[in-house]
Amino acid sequence: MADILVTWFSRSGSTEQAARALAGRLGADAEPILTAGSYAGAAGFVRGVWQSLLRRPPAARTGADPTAYRLVIVGTPVWAGQPSAPVRSYLRQYGPRIRSLAAFCVSGSGAPYDEVFDEIEDLTGSELAATLSLAQRQVLAGEADAALDAFAGRLRGDLAKAA
Ligand SMILES: Cc1cc2nc3c(=O)[nH]c(=O)nc-3n(C[C@H](O)[C@H](O)[C@H](O)COP(=O)(O)O)c2cc1C
Repeated sequence: MADILVTWFSRSGSTEQAARALAGRLGADAEPILTAGSYAGAAGFVRGVWQSLLRRPPAARTGADPTAYRLVIVGTPVWAGQPSAPVRSYLRQYGPRIRSLAAFCVSGSGAPYDEVFDEIEDLTGSELAATLSLAQRQVLAGEADAALDAFAGRLRGDLAKAA
């Protein structure tokens, strides 16, 4: 087991692509957040917006125990200006017991989504170690490398200082 876990929810693959690239840089374990229901198609889109706006997350499950890691990095798509519903569910379940948490988000606009990170801090009751906002097009075009390098470098440095 590595001492860092990268975990994510991804509906259309861009958050997963960034998460796996990050995990590779950090030598971290990589584990998706899974939900029972699907978010595919137009109905899935509407369901995602609805759950985000009403803050009504579905049950989420994962194959790794996040409380066993020194650092967990969670990746989420931005849904209606919020963390995606499955990530909200995951953080409600595990967030307060995670030792140290960092987060990144991937959105259509690529705007710096501070409200997503504020919401994650509210859900977990602790300050995020680092945050990163990426644009979907940047990730899919392979143009997120420099941002991911800097993010991984900062987290690795923080972890070394804390050791
Ligand atoms: C339900 C839903 C709501 C979304 N809301 C936003 C939004 O508020 N702002 C934005 O920039 N992009 C929004 N998007 C676009 C996604 O954040 C973007 O496509 C992201 O890269 C998807 O990540 P994924 O490929 O990992 O699923 C939304 C997408 C979905 C499916």
